[in-house]
Amino acid sequence: MSAKAARTKNAPEVAPAAAIADGAIRTAPSGNGEAEVLRRHAEEQFAEELHELAQADTKPRPPRWKLSPWAVSTYLLGGILDSGFVVTPKYIGNRRLMEVAVSTLATDRALLLLGVPGTAKSWVSEHLAAAISGDSTRLVQGSAGTSEEAIRYGWNYALLLAKGPSHEAIVPSPVMRAMRDGKIARVEELTRIPADVQDTLITILSEKTLPIPELNGEIQATKGFNLIATANNRDKGVNELSSALKRRFNTVVLPTPETADEEVEIVRRRVESLGRALELPAEPPGLEEIRRVVTVFRELRDGATGDGKTKVKQPSGTMSTAEAISVVNQGLALAGHFGDGTLRAGDLAAGLVGAVVKDPVQDRVVWLEYMETVVKERDGWKDLYRACRDVI
Ligand SMILES: Nc1ncnc2c1ncn2[C@@H]1O[C@H](COP(=O)(O)OP(=O)(O)OP(=O)(O)O)[C@@H](O)[C@H]1O
Ligand SMILES: [Mg+2]
Repeated sequence: MSAKAARTKNAPEVAPAAAIADGAIRTAPSGNGEAEVLRRHAEEQFAEELHELAQADTKPRPPRWKLSPWAVSTYLLGGILDSGFVVTPKYIGNRRLMEVAVSTLATDRALLLLGVPGTAKSWVSEHLAAAISGDSTRLVQGSAGTSEEAIRYGWNYALLLAKGPSHEAIVPSPVMRAMRDGKIARVEELTRIPADVQDTLITILSEKTLPIPELNGEIQATKGFNLIATANNRDKGVNELSSALKRRFNTVVLPTPETADEEVEIVRRRVESLGRALELPAEPPGLEEIRRVVTVFRELRDGATGDGKTKVKQPSGTMSTAEAISVVNQGLALAGHFGDGTLRAGDLAAGLVGAVVKDPVQDRVVWLEYMETVVKERDGWKDLYRACRDVI
């Protein structure tokens, strides 16, 4: 059958298929088949917490904020409400940093979350937008290919050609929509965006307007609008922020977790919730296994053992908390699908090696030395040593 004949014959089926595809594209938060969504937006996943906080919140709210700054920081850091309702912590670490981040968003300056990879910049940005605006989806993903249109607006070319420039023909960017609706916009990986495109943000952030020269007009930001950008300060191919743009931001640097206990807690919480979302057929991992992974990560990151007695070489990778989460999660998948459902050293070894050995030559040397001088000698770590030897 020729392609044309096939098309004609199938024509009645094509239309509904197209309609389904259109319907599956979400244009607004919350809607279709939430249970089937792999990763829900923060405002959906934590809808109950946000609702309870809004009920309990008697403090003043900045214009169009869903919660007061107090309630937003309680949402981020966790707490117990007067009603006894428990709000789970999203960010584990310095309270003051989060308070500064939240209060910045109530001023006329935008917020820049800066830090090494895996320090929860995107995570905090999503939760801040969810708590403040009830919507974390006004998001521009920055990359070397991000164009001005992605930050300002584009055109519906069919309408543009048919009718010329008009408001209807404008395709607003997430930033433009946030300005119009008085919500928080997010720009991920700001420093990956070419410098001239970054500068588009200057007018938006200082004048709070977005000029539309084609219509001889502008969009003025509604109260409640602000912007959260994230940027990585240890990455290749980044573009420095111009000082003009830097001035429009208040920068909050997110550090790697201060203590091992904090880091263990972060990994435990994330692994537990990921395991639930992925429906892994394994027991939540024992704290001791998580602690071992976190210890390896921290020692290699810091270049010394926890007691400070032995110096170790540092691998080329960042050894971030986010990767520690992935290692444990991968181990859990192995234990669940190929083991007896309990996470053991053998399930962690491959993930650990993968996280450390990013450069097959230098990092391998680093890892072998760490294994021989630290893992092998440590009380109760023999199983981990043997498992790691098996996979290197
Ligand atoms: N202090 C922390 N509190 C809670 N979660 C954390 C913390 N640090 C890291 N995480 C967890 O690490 C994971 C990765 O965080 P995220 O993706 O936000 O990192 P990032 O800083 O944006 O990294 P990148 O620079 O690679 O984009 C998230 O699942 C987050 O929960
Ligand atoms: Mg990120």
